[in-house]
Amino acid sequence: MIKQAIIPLAGLGTRLLPLTSVFPKELLPINGKPGIEFILDECIEAGIKEIIFIISKKKQMIKDYFYNDLFYKKIIKKKNDPRIIKEYKKILKYKKMIKFVYQNKPLGTGDAVLKTKNFIRDDFFLMLLPDDLIIKRNCSKSMIKIHNRYKSSVMASMNVKKSSVSRWGIYKLGKRIDKNNFIIKDVIEKPIIANAPSNKAVIGRYILSKKIFSRLSKQKPGKGGEIHITDAIQSLIFKNEKFIAHNFLGKYLDCGSMNGYIKSTLEIAKL
Ligand code: G1P
Repeated sequence: MIKQAIIPLAGLGTRLLPLTSVFPKELLPINGKPGIEFILDECIEAGIKEIIFIISKKKQMIKDYFYNDLFYKKIIKKKNDPRIIKEYKKILKYKKMIKFVYQNKPLGTGDAVLKTKNFIRDDFFLMLLPDDLIIKRNCSKSMIKIHNRYKSSVMASMNVKKSSVSRWGIYKLGKRIDKNNFIIKDVIEKPIIANAPSNKAVIGRYILSKKIFSRLSKQKPGKGGEIHITDAIQSLIFKNEKFIAHNFLGKYLDCGSMNGYIKSTLEIAKL
């Protein structure tokens, strides 16, 4: 059973400047609700019981958002507004599930994952990248089903335009398991078009085995000098660890870029 999820939140959010110069991108509202709450709701609905946030000192505001009890208690005492009480209860529900670990240097997603090593109890855990919203279907829930059936690692996948492969982790397709699930033979972080093994991208939902930690502790920096989770996954694949690509059925929204963020607000308003 997958009971724990981790969410890397220490990224600088430069693609969303100037909005992110003082404000964490994950707290930016998408149709009136902070982006991170969409991710938390997806986890809760998928049966996750504990969520580890990897933040940095610069993103302390994320912790403050969930630890503002005194403020809420005072306001509620004064105003007794049912809407505020409801919102506070929701925050308390999230807070109970969240643990915080720190990644103060932005050394990459792989480095962020490594920070959670001592917190992961079971053999497998879920990772969600908060820039990637998937609406209409719960992608984590379907991936957990696949994991339960095949007892392997799983990554969310989507076809992308050939011209955009250098923006993504791109994988090489292996055997077909069923309509939406395939074995992954290789994965390359942000390849140039000439080196891309396909136009199939990894999207920000991963079910990973604990084995990833020992791989990551040896992982050398890759593209842009960062430690990439994709590179550690590639090493595990080459050591015959089974990774399944799951073509999710929901709609993907990229909240990490300005255009994508604006589009996400419009799409979510339509729901
Ligand atoms: C990360 C991963 C990349 C993946 C992408 C999905 O990239 O490194 O492999 O395809 O998320 O959104 P980033 O968005 O951090 O550049």
